[in-house]
Amino acid sequence: MRSYYIAGNWKMHKTVAESVALAKELKEKLAGCGEKVLVAPAFTALAAVAEALKGSNILLGAQNMGPEEQGAHTGEVSVLMLKDLGVKAVILGHSERRHSYSEGDALINKKVLLALKHGIEPILCVGETLEEREGGTLEAVIGMQVREGLKGVEAAALKSVTIAYEPVWAIGTGKTATPEDADAVHAYIRKVLASLYGETASKSMCIQYGGSVKADNAASLMAKPNIDGALVGGASLKVDTFAPIALFR
Ligand code: PGA
Repeated sequence: MRSYYIAGNWKMHKTVAESVALAKELKEKLAGCGEKVLVAPAFTALAAVAEALKGSNILLGAQNMGPEEQGAHTGEVSVLMLKDLGVKAVILGHSERRHSYSEGDALINKKVLLALKHGIEPILCVGETLEEREGGTLEAVIGMQVREGLKGVEAAALKSVTIAYEPVWAIGTGKTATPEDADAVHAYIRKVLASLYGETASKSMCIQYGGSVKADNAASLMAKPNIDGALVGGASLKVDTFAPIALFR
């Protein structure tokens, strides 16, 4: 049976104390969960959440990182610092980074390569805006984001890479892509991956769906053949809304 990868992106929410409280609740609630589960608190809460998650099967993630190893880069957080705190995965190229902070494919690719170099698993986010979807450029946009994001990534490193398909129009809006629409894009992403790395590698890659995933739509989304997990924003902020997603089956 395939296992699913459920990640919670806490975005710019929660104090250290609030983050620790949620981590502790999740640790208890998800003790028997067989899926791969990750939470990505704010940078300021990473150390405390790492401590709170000790002894649990929940992995620690970060929401972003700087493109350089270290140096004079005011305001950035380095891969080495994340590693030092026990971070296992990092969300890169989230649409909020792409659209609000003008992060482009080349910068995101640099971060993907740097994360892999240091043994941190990247979750590479891709997704089209409503305008792009309606204008018929969905495949061109997604294809470009996947190809450019993975430039220089060796086939052997792919097992450490997750792609998250997050249609921009579905993030935080309550609008979810239908399971059929999402699966079609996931299938297209696999086609792009197959053209880069071959059919077998493409089939074994984990592709999460993100965009208003909730307890009541998680099961139908993940029932689709190409949807291997979920990247959850809003619903990851409370144990009562996140735990049922991780425990969807
Ligand atoms: P949402 O966010 O679940 O609140 O739509 C998803 C995301 O941004 O990863």
